[in-house]
Amino acid sequence: MSNVMVFDHPLIQHKLSILRDEHTSVKEFRELVSEIAKLMCYEATRDLPLEEVKVKTPVAEAVCRRIAGKKLAIVPILRAGLGMVDGMVDMIPNAKVGHIGLFRDPETLEPVKYYFKMPPDITERDVIVVDPMLATGGSAIAAVSFLKEEGVKNIKLMCIIAAPEGVEAMQKAHPDVEIFAAALDDHLNDHGYIVPGLGDAGDRIFGTK
Ligand code: PRP
Ligand code: URA
Repeated sequence: MSNVMVFDHPLIQHKLSILRDEHTSVKEFRELVSEIAKLMCYEATRDLPLEEVKVKTPVAEAVCRRIAGKKLAIVPILRAGLGMVDGMVDMIPNAKVGHIGLFRDPETLEPVKYYFKMPPDITERDVIVVDPMLATGGSAIAAVSFLKEEGVKNIKLMCIIAAPEGVEAMQKAHPDVEIFAAALDDHLNDHGYIVPGLGDAGDRIFGTK
């Protein structure tokens, strides 16, 4: 599948195996989501442009490379995307955070928007949308559409588990958006859950079930 990067790093895969386990506690689940987001962030920002700077060490002048003033924003899809924010901002401390509140209507599986708050300079920023689950793709597609309507041009999507159905729908709706995932699972069940997946990510992060 083009435009999709699935991370096969052993640390990510190991943590994901614990995350999927139905016996993993809320505390551990929350920690793992954050840790996986951090590791994925490291890979997903590999293409950030660098510029040379001279730094005086205690010994001599060194020619070093720094991120070339690229402005980033992390945009979690509420609720479950919130679980990935700390890991991301640990790695990119200057990133701003915008929030998009969406939930899936349990009957239609269509995303319903209830919150949208972005940094004022969002159109000048590259955006990484984060949500642990890409199932039908409805939520991520809607989130990206809202951001594009605001004028955001460069958007990436980072999820932990993606379903082939969601990836396909996303690629059709927004072919310009690169997708980063820790796993590409088998299929969706009749309730729109990813199989084998990990269950309801929001409930498992916040302990609401
Ligand atoms: C989950 C998940 C995604 C969405 C994925 O959120 O966190 O946002 O479902 O499904 P989709 O690809 O079919 O749209 P949910 O709607 O359960 O809301 P929550 O995060 O508040 O639990
Ligand atoms: N949302 C979740 O939290 N889990 C799924 O498997 C699908 C959508």
